[in-house]
Amino acid sequence: MERTRKFVRETRCFKTARVFPSDVNNHNTLFGGKLMAYIDDIASIAAAKFCRANTVTASTDSVDFLHPIAPEDSVLLEAFVTWSGHSSMEIFVKVIRENLRTGDKRIAATAFLTFVAFDEQDQKMQVPLIVPETEEEVKLHQTAPDRAEQRRYRREASRELASFLTTDYPWE
Ligand SMILES: CC(C)(COP(=O)(O)OP(=O)(O)OC[C@H]1O[C@@H](n2cnc3c(N)ncnc32)[C@H](O)[C@@H]1OP(=O)(O)O)[C@@H](O)C(=O)NCCC(=O)NCCS
Repeated sequence: MERTRKFVRETRCFKTARVFPSDVNNHNTLFGGKLMAYIDDIASIAAAKFCRANTVTASTDSVDFLHPIAPEDSVLLEAFVTWSGHSSMEIFVKVIRENLRTGDKRIAATAFLTFVAFDEQDQKMQVPLIVPETEEEVKLHQTAPDRAEQRRYRREASRELASFLTTDYPWE
């Protein structure tokens, strides 16, 4: 049976938020952990729009914080699927901060996440193929296999490290 195809645009979603006093760190900029929660949250929605199934986060590549986000800024997150394997898919999240007084906009952070899809029986399932259209989507799609390869190496290294680590609590 031929694999279904979806356009990147069918997976795209957005979230805009204000920066409240409870969201900031000691430097009075958006707390990194808060932004990471936003990133995982919106990426999971793009993943679900793509495969219409249950998904889990398999990995988050480094989240690069390029520009601080201040209380007078709004924070906009855009997420979409850039590439799909068999049961996994790569999601790109772009974070734009906008100074609400001046209108100045900057890329505040970027991240790539990998999600895996599961069927009703909780088995990994095949996901559709993704079809990029815009220049940005095509570039991210073309560069995805290299990132997937790097993740495979990193995953092996993480497994090796985990096999060496102790599960003893320090007080035991
Ligand atoms: C991620 C997880 C489902 C992988 O399960 P697994 O049985 O080891 O899976 P496989 O080795 O068969 O890999 C399945 C797919 O995931 C991909 N994958 C697995 N681990 C990955 C990682 N760390 N980074 C990127 N891709 C990964 C594989 O490349 C494979 O892709 P493909 O089907 O497109 O070829 C499993 O490790 C898991 O459940 N982890 C916990 C997830 C979780 O709790 N997330 C946070 C809360 S949602």
